[in-house]
Amino acid sequence: MKQPAIKISHSSLGTVATLALALLLGATAAAAPVWLDELDLSKTSQGWGEAHKNKSVDGHALTLGNVVFEHGLGTHAESVLYLNLQGGAEKFSATVGVDAEVNNDATSVEFSVIGDGKTLWQSGVMRAGTPAKALEVNLTGIKNLILMVGDAGDGINYDHADWANAKFEISGARPETVAAPHEDAVILTPPAPPTPRINGAAIFGVRPGHALLFMISATGVRPMTFSADHLPKGITLDAKTGLLVGALAQPGEYVVTLHARNQFGTDQRALKIVCGDQIALTPPMGWNSWNCFAGAVSAEKVKAAADALIKSGLQNHGWNYINIDDFWQTHRDSKDPTLQGPARDAAGRILPNPRFPDMKGLADYVHSKGLKIGLYSSPGPWTCGGCVGSFGHELEDAQQYAEWGFDYVKYDWCSYSPELEAKRGSATNLGVIKSWSAAAPKKLTEQMYPYAVMQAALAKADRDIVYSLCQYGMGDVWTWGAQVNGNCWRTTGDITDSWGSMAGIGFAQAGHEKFAGPGHWNDPDMLVVGKLGWGSLRPTRLTPNEQYTHISLWCLLASPLLIGCDMTQLDEFTLSLLSNDEVLAVNQDSLGKQAGRIAKNGDLEVWAKDMADGSKAIGLFNRGTTETGVEVKWTDLGLTGKHLVRDLWRQKDLGTFADAFKASVPRHGVVLIRVGK
Ligand code: GAL
Repeated sequence: MKQPAIKISHSSLGTVATLALALLLGATAAAAPVWLDELDLSKTSQGWGEAHKNKSVDGHALTLGNVVFEHGLGTHAESVLYLNLQGGAEKFSATVGVDAEVNNDATSVEFSVIGDGKTLWQSGVMRAGTPAKALEVNLTGIKNLILMVGDAGDGINYDHADWANAKFEISGARPETVAAPHEDAVILTPPAPPTPRINGAAIFGVRPGHALLFMISATGVRPMTFSADHLPKGITLDAKTGLLVGALAQPGEYVVTLHARNQFGTDQRALKIVCGDQIALTPPMGWNSWNCFAGAVSAEKVKAAADALIKSGLQNHGWNYINIDDFWQTHRDSKDPTLQGPARDAAGRILPNPRFPDMKGLADYVHSKGLKIGLYSSPGPWTCGGCVGSFGHELEDAQQYAEWGFDYVKYDWCSYSPELEAKRGSATNLGVIKSWSAAAPKKLTEQMYPYAVMQAALAKADRDIVYSLCQYGMGDVWTWGAQVNGNCWRTTGDITDSWGSMAGIGFAQAGHEKFAGPGHWNDPDMLVVGKLGWGSLRPTRLTPNEQYTHISLWCLLASPLLIGCDMTQLDEFTLSLLSNDEVLAVNQDSLGKQAGRIAKNGDLEVWAKDMADGSKAIGLFNRGTTETGVEVKWTDLGLTGKHLVRDLWRQKDLGTFADAFKASVPRHGVVLIRVGK
């Protein structure tokens, strides 16, 4: 039986204790207590939810074990709160632990108190049920304090963390919470040269008989003309735009040499077209409407995004998908007339809402720019936003998507359940059970089932459609996503633009690398750079170094790269993050390996990825709050001898190094290098 909770009210106790102590010591001016919750806690940055004063992150009473606390901060890893002590603080004390509202094996956090760059106290790893720990830290002489909760290395799921009873003893000015230190947005990406340079994927998959559309991505001054040697029969090239279209009748590998020429020079590069079962041989790169527009998306905004992708020059760096997320369908119960209308026609075909009057016209428009187009649905009757989903209509939907000319489907989980599945008649299961049991290497689980149904429907469509699973990693989707022909699968819940969320998700991908490869990628969710905000636009809350970490890590992880910002409001810094061809080449590398974590020392991590040319792309990351040296040892990479090191963001050789390479890495920052070739 659960013990009755003990309630601790320190409002008077603390003062009494301080006074008693002062009397005992004969002090004339006692240090006065200041509760952490008296300060502005809205400056807390965290990985999920909102920080609460005197409440847990879920809004319950702060509870550690069976003790309820009246004072404190309820937060969620990864959490960072900066304080300026203003010279007056003498002591900080608190009782910390995982709030009793969670009881989950995935929970693990580590609390740290950092003063002027030095770790003053650390809790060690604490899990659900670990007894609370009391801390008391002497602050004499300390100017700046950071209260941090890390994810203890395994991602942020269920990491509800309490700084209970947290208070300062002060003898002068009161401490203040402050914003993270300012960083200048320094652009590292050098401008592309005026000469032609062919970028983007060097390998491309297409299924026999299906429409091929591949735009040669090339930087350099226009006009530019394109040509290709050894183009297979059925494929033509537009010499002015660099667009390859057509279809291949026979499976096989076709190696084409692409040429680009302008008034300043020429470039050439091999493109391997693989005609077979697999598509998405490199991670998809493009834009998705959710992180900026959420439920306010419209055909005009989608067109504007396509136009901006071209105008900004991003297409020349390999970006090519324009994906509509939720809210192109009609809504279950919205009062907004632009979301109303019949859900389906008499034949069961899905009908878009009035904001999308002509889906085929929109797809044609996007294709006319040499781009591809995607949309979103859910296996339940309703999507996560409450729009019409695909349950019972998978076949009609897949056929409709193909007829409209869509190239990408993101398929969620909302409103689906095994109980609902039990009600499905065999007429709409598309023979999944039968075909699966004949070929399945593994039992079809409840979680796989709806994805196998849509897979069967997409397989009947006469079109290559990238199949993106979005069920947040349930049932270890990385172990079976490829079995339902998923081209990518979300490994996590939704990302947001905080350090805690981005780093908590990104660094938790360690170990998933063995499940990724050409045609099937782990997806740690979309990019949170630029102006975004899920319907009300604002600049990303990630600092410039955090943004470098985000892009570097997602490239190393061979993640799909889907820009989440308003493309019409790209600033120079954001553009520079998205247009560094040497960095993007790490993501698009033909070998299709995902980086793994090869070393970890506290907040310092080294991640490495094997590249097709035998070199290694390496990220030296500093998850800590002060600039620190991070080293990669050649032995950890299986290398010996001397190697040339190239800085990928600066596109600059740094010299030849024996045994190891060490760089100073800023707070929450990265140095991304390539070694070994
Ligand atoms: C979520 C999904 C988001 C977005 C949203 C739309 O489940 O993770 O990326 O697609 O649904 O409602």
